[in-house]
Amino acid sequence: MKPDFAGTVFGAAAGEFARWSGRLWRPLGEISVAAVRPRPGDRVLDACCGAGASALPAAAAVGPDGRVDAVDVAAGLLEQGRAEARVRGLGNVRFAEHDVLTWDGEYDLVQCGYGVFFFPDMDAGARRLVSLLRPGGRFAVTTWRHDGMARVVPIGMAAAVPERPELAAHVGDPGPAGRIDRPETLAAWMTSLGLTGVTVAEIRFVQPFHSADAWSFYLGAAMRAFVGGLDEAALARVRDRFVAGLAEAGVTELDASTLVAVGATRS
Ligand SMILES: C[S@@+](CC[C@H](N)C(=O)[O-])C[C@H]1O[C@@H](n2cnc3c(N)ncnc32)[C@H](O)[C@@H]1O
Repeated sequence: MKPDFAGTVFGAAAGEFARWSGRLWRPLGEISVAAVRPRPGDRVLDACCGAGASALPAAAAVGPDGRVDAVDVAAGLLEQGRAEARVRGLGNVRFAEHDVLTWDGEYDLVQCGYGVFFFPDMDAGARRLVSLLRPGGRFAVTTWRHDGMARVVPIGMAAAVPERPELAAHVGDPGPAGRIDRPETLAAWMTSLGLTGVTVAEIRFVQPFHSADAWSFYLGAAMRAFVGGLDEAALARVRDRFVAGLAEAGVTELDASTLVAVGATRS
């Protein structure tokens, strides 16, 4: 996804994204940071920070001597992150609207939650982020496990195909996310970036997924890209097909099970 397109999609998604913050993005951000364990005093880059799901717990972990730069292209999500930082009294996190692939700095930890697979070239983008680490710094990537989100997205894409026939060729193609959605493939990919001591934590995370709120999930995340520009009548048809498709596939839970990988640069 081109960064300006990601900004448009996730910027437009801000309202629905917020509806899923409490039950999806924030708990997963907390869990991810608990696995990564930023250290007191660390300088952290949270790449693709969204509304700060992992940036905010990282800011709490690094404490007053540390700092978190939280970078995203979606202005509406950044605003939610800033508001939440104020509520939590976190003065050591800065939210910046920027393409993270052209961001500069030197960091002890770069973390990227559910973001690397949106880069136009996932490997080149990840290498760029790794290049921002000091020697011995750590890179952490959080991504979906193969048997969870990958069941829902094809149903969402298929629901949009009658309105957007050009999507038909992509239904069932997991894209770059499919290259890193198992512990062993994610670990191998991290190692291919030149990282050492790679570990991968597996987290099972499941939420109820009723027809009434499935549609807000569709509009609150990347699936929104499938339906951009459609009128209300077309959106309603996609929604009905999506809900029917979930029922037909027996999907009654949102399986957001997650992998968290951490590796270090050579010191
Ligand atoms: C699925 S959301 C995850 C947000 C957050 N990490 C979380 O866990 O809640 C992916 C985010 O990546 C952002 N993104 C994608 N490409 C980007 C880029 N090149 N630079 C900055 N942000 C980007 C999107 O705007 C979106 O907010």
